[in-house]
Amino acid sequence: MINRILVGYATRYGSTQEVAEAIAATLRTCELEVEVHPLREVKSLAPYTGIIIGAPLMMFRWHKDAQRFLARHRRELSERPVAVFALGPVHDPRDEKEWADSRAQLEKELAKVPWFKPLALEILGGVFDPTKFRFPINKLAGAEPASDIRDWDAIRAWARELAQELGSATS
Ligand SMILES: Cc1cc2nc3c(=O)[nH]c(=O)nc-3n(C[C@H](O)[C@H](O)[C@H](O)COP(=O)(O)O)c2cc1C
Repeated sequence: MINRILVGYATRYGSTQEVAEAIAATLRTCELEVEVHPLREVKSLAPYTGIIIGAPLMMFRWHKDAQRFLARHRRELSERPVAVFALGPVHDPRDEKEWADSRAQLEKELAKVPWFKPLALEILGGVFDPTKFRFPINKLAGAEPASDIRDWDAIRAWARELAQELGSATS
């Protein structure tokens, strides 16, 4: 059986899409077939043997496209191995409190869908780019400097772990 993986993402400013593409590129080097699509455009999970869902935390919530995706595909998600990632922390990568807070936010969101049991759940560093903000976020964001703490080596390493888990879960 061919393992075909969906990397579905939601994004507001683009950084989660770039992470989704990087995860897909690594999975392809592990000889998996991979498609990358915005979560809101996915109609059916029937073509896929494994699913990766990525979306940013925004204002203490997981992006609404991810929440809707879970509700829309509940049955098919329950029948397949699923991994989840969320972009959140944007400051010092060593700031353990910020990472713990983001993880707690995601876990709180997922506690609302107790049937959903992802085999992996990862918080990844994100991007803070005030030049992209529109009103009213540009007014609320203050004068924080831009940052990009995405760790591409860590992202690729996590993707290689997933390749093993998602590849073997279905073969
Ligand atoms: C207005 C705003 C609100 C945010 N709120 C949160 C939050 O509540 N928790 C968190 O962990 N990260 C938060 N972040 C950080 C985002 O998750 C991070 O910027 C991420 O890279 C955005 O992803 P995107 O570029 O795919 O939209 C926030 C960022 C912005 C700009």
